[in-house]
Amino acid sequence: MQPKSAIASAFAGAVLISATFLSAQSPDPAVPYPSEYRTWVMVKSYVVTPESKTFKDRGGFHHYYANDKALVGYRTGEFPEGSMIVDEGVGAKDVDGVTIETDLRNISLMHKDARYTATGGWGYEVFEGGNTVGTAGAKTQGVCYGCHPGAKDRDYVFSTSRIATGSRKQ
Ligand code: HEC
Repeated sequence: MQPKSAIASAFAGAVLISATFLSAQSPDPAVPYPSEYRTWVMVKSYVVTPESKTFKDRGGFHHYYANDKALVGYRTGEFPEGSMIVDEGVGAKDVDGVTIETDLRNISLMHKDARYTATGGWGYEVFEGGNTVGTAGAKTQGVCYGCHPGAKDRDYVFSTSRIATGSRKQ
């Protein structure tokens, strides 16, 4: 687990970088849309509140989902080919003191596939709203990979799973 401040500044960096490099080009090969992701195991959640510098781009709920292969990776630190992890961003609003979900904002995907040699064997992509075609594109692959080697000792995955660790802390 990274210290909170490191994660917050990493995300602040992500916002700046992605604003500069967003591109419509597809990665080669294109990273496929993970249509069944909501049936996978939800390994972690958090809420980005208005106090966060990244609220404009990342405000609301973040649910992380892992497919079966990625669950192996969360347990062992080595993610098998075919592992997929989704960071799902969903809007949030307060209703009578209860924070509820609103619309799906986007999903960010990491897909383990040896063909992505330039980005450590993971394909990265972002799907806006309910779009099944990626919008981040080829250049953004490199932007994502600009940060994720910070977790190289865990196969480029920063988060830990509340299931794999059995811990109540995240
Ligand atoms: C500035 C650094 C940075 C950039 C750039 C970045 N990420 Fe991340 N990403 C992180 C951090 C830090 C976490 C873990 C946060 C936490 O503790 O849950 C993360 C988590 C994730 C996760 C959940 C799996 C994991 O590693 O914990 C996915 C999926 C993901 N990012 C996809 C992407 C995609 C796709 C892009 C490019 C569009 C991207 N990231 C760009 C820093 C970054």
